Amino acid sequence: MQLLTCFAVLSAVAVASAQVFVDVGRSPGSGGSVFRFVPNNITASNGTVITFRFTGSPGNHTVTQSTFDDPCNPMAGGFDSGNVYIPPGFTATPPLFNLTVTDDTQPIWFFCKDLRPIPHCQQEMVGAINAPTSGEYTLQAFAQSAMRASNPAGQGQGGLVGQGASAAALPAPISNGVSLAIGAPLSTSAGSSPSGTGASPSASTGASHTSGATSSTGSAPTPTTNAAAVMRGSPLVALAAVAFGIMLA
Ligand SMILES: *[C@@H]1O[C@H](CO)[C@@H](O)[C@H](O)[C@H]1NC(C)=O
Ligand SMILES: *[C@@H]1O[C@H](CO)[C@@H](O)[C@H](O)[C@H]1NC(C)=O
Ligand SMILES: *[C@@H]1O[C@H](CO)[C@@H](O)[C@H](O)[C@H]1NC(C)=O
Ligand SMILES: *[C@@H]1O[C@H](CO)[C@@H](O)[C@H](O)[C@H]1NC(C)=O
Repeated sequence: MQLLTCFAVLSAVAVASAQVFVDVGRSPGSGGSVFRFVPNNITASNGTVITFRFTGSPGNHTVTQSTFDDPCNPMAGGFDSGNVYIPPGFTATPPLFNLTVTDDTQPIWFFCKDLRPIPHCQQEMVGAINAPTSGEYTLQAFAQSAMRASNPAGQGQGGLVGQGASAAALPAPISNGVSLAIGAPLSTSAGSSPSGTGASPSASTGASHTSGATSSTGSAPTPTTNAAAVMRGSPLVALAAVAFGIMLA
C-alpha cells in the first residue's frame, strides 16, 4: 500500500518535472549562429523546466523577460540570464539556463537584449511561453512589434525570479567564455507580485548579481510552503520529504 502510494508520488513528480529544450542562437542540426530561439513558441505547464541551451557559436546572447507592449526592454521584476558568450568553434556542452514555469495562466514574453553586431531583438530574437495562438497577443504579433521597436534593447539586468517563471542559477561560465550579468539591476518590486514569487516582502529576488563572473552569485528563488513549488526547487529533497511524510502517515 505504502509502496503503491510511493509509486503514485513518483509518477506525479515525473509529470511535474517535464523539460523542454530551447536552443539559443542556433538551429538544431546546423552549425554557426542565428538570431533565434529555437523553438520560440513554447507551451509549458507549471513546474515544466525550460532549459535554454546556449548553442550558437559564436554567440553572445541573453534570455530576458519583457512585456508584450515593450518587447525589447527588460521587464522590471523579470528573469534575465545575463549575457552568455560562446566563442567560435565551441562544441562542448553548452551553458544552460533552467527556467521553471510558475504560472501557466498567462503568456511569458522574452527576448535577447544583446546589441552586437546589431540589436538581436529587432532581428526577431524573441520568444514566448504560453502565448495565445490567435487574437491580438500572439507570438507573431510580439515578433512583429519587436522588429519595429524603436529602442534597440534596454540593457537593465533582470533577476533570477521572473513573473510566471524563475531560475535558480545563472548559466555557468564555460572554460574559455564568460557569463555576464551586466547593466543596472532592475526593480523587482512590481506591485502586483504574481504567485510563485512568495509572500515574504523581504524575499530575495535574485537581483543581486552584477557584473563579473556570475557562476555563484544567483540567489535561490523564494522558499514556499507549497509542495509542488518545493519539488520544482529541489526534486530530490522534495521527494525525500514526501516519502518521509508517507512513512509517518
Ligand atoms: C510552434 O510553431 C510551429 C510552426 O508554426 C508549430 O508547428 C508548432 O506546433 C508550434 N508549437 C507550439 C507549442 O505552439
Ligand atoms: C557579450 O556581450 C556583452 C554585452 O554586449 C559584452 O559586455 C561582453 O563584452 C560580450 N562578451 C564578449 C566576449 O564579447
Ligand atoms: C499554475 O500556477 C498558477 C500560479 O500559482 C495558478 O494560478 C494556476 O492555476 C496554475 N495552473 C494550473 C493548471 O494548475
Ligand atoms: C540545468 O539543468 C541541468 C539538468 O537538466 C543541470 O545539469 C544543470 O546543472 C542546470 N544548470 C543550471 C545553471 O541550473
